[in-house]
Amino acid sequence: MKVRLDRLLSNTGYGTRKEVKQMIRKGHVKVNKTVIKKDDLKIDPKVEKVYVDDVEVVHETFVYFMLNKPAGYISATVDQVHKTVIDLIEGYDNYELFPVGRLDKDTEGLLLITNDGGFAHLLMAPRRKHAKIYYAKVKGEITDEHIGLFKEGITIDTGYKCKSSRLKILEANEDYSIVEVEITEGKFHQVKKMFLAIGSEVLYLKRIQIRDLKLDENLQLGEFRKLTEQELIDLKENL
Ligand code: URA
Repeated sequence: MKVRLDRLLSNTGYGTRKEVKQMIRKGHVKVNKTVIKKDDLKIDPKVEKVYVDDVEVVHETFVYFMLNKPAGYISATVDQVHKTVIDLIEGYDNYELFPVGRLDKDTEGLLLITNDGGFAHLLMAPRRKHAKIYYAKVKGEITDEHIGLFKEGITIDTGYKCKSSRLKILEANEDYSIVEVEITEGKFHQVKKMFLAIGSEVLYLKRIQIRDLKLDENLQLGEFRKLTEQELIDLKENL
């Protein structure tokens, strides 16, 4: 995968595109042993070594981001009509990023974005039963009886019995309830269908946790950041 020299340097933290272009033009950058002054030179970071002031630039092959997904974006890499979650990850065009699993267009919250296919596969594989926690506002009053039904397994899709799930009531009145739901599967529209099955309806849905990884509260809707080393180690543990 070839990448422009100025883009590679700005993606690895050497400054904005403008700053790294200047750095290149002033002769601070070498590719292998040669000083390069062309910022649009395309190089293969797996084969060629890049140096800034004779210090080697470490290019990451795999990158991992958490995104606070806003409503209105679809969980895909490209789409002719809609904005995609990948459009929100600016500055990483050459990394062939994709979302790990999907959130509905109107769902907000924690979505992982990566280019590491093996990691994504292990995290999403249904038989691994990794927990995902959602915060939801739903129609009507949710009660302890519903907690029991969720624990037992709700039947959706004319006959599929979902695995046991944990339902926690944060607030409940006869108009609406605020709840947290923890599921270990990822069926299409699963949370929405589970509430429909008990005669309710999801009015707002936000994913707040995957395994032990919590959505960073400092991320505004549409913002993203790299996972920390520790977050990645924890997330990969026993995948
Ligand atoms: N369940 C849903 O119904 N929608 C989502 O986006 C995620 C889980």
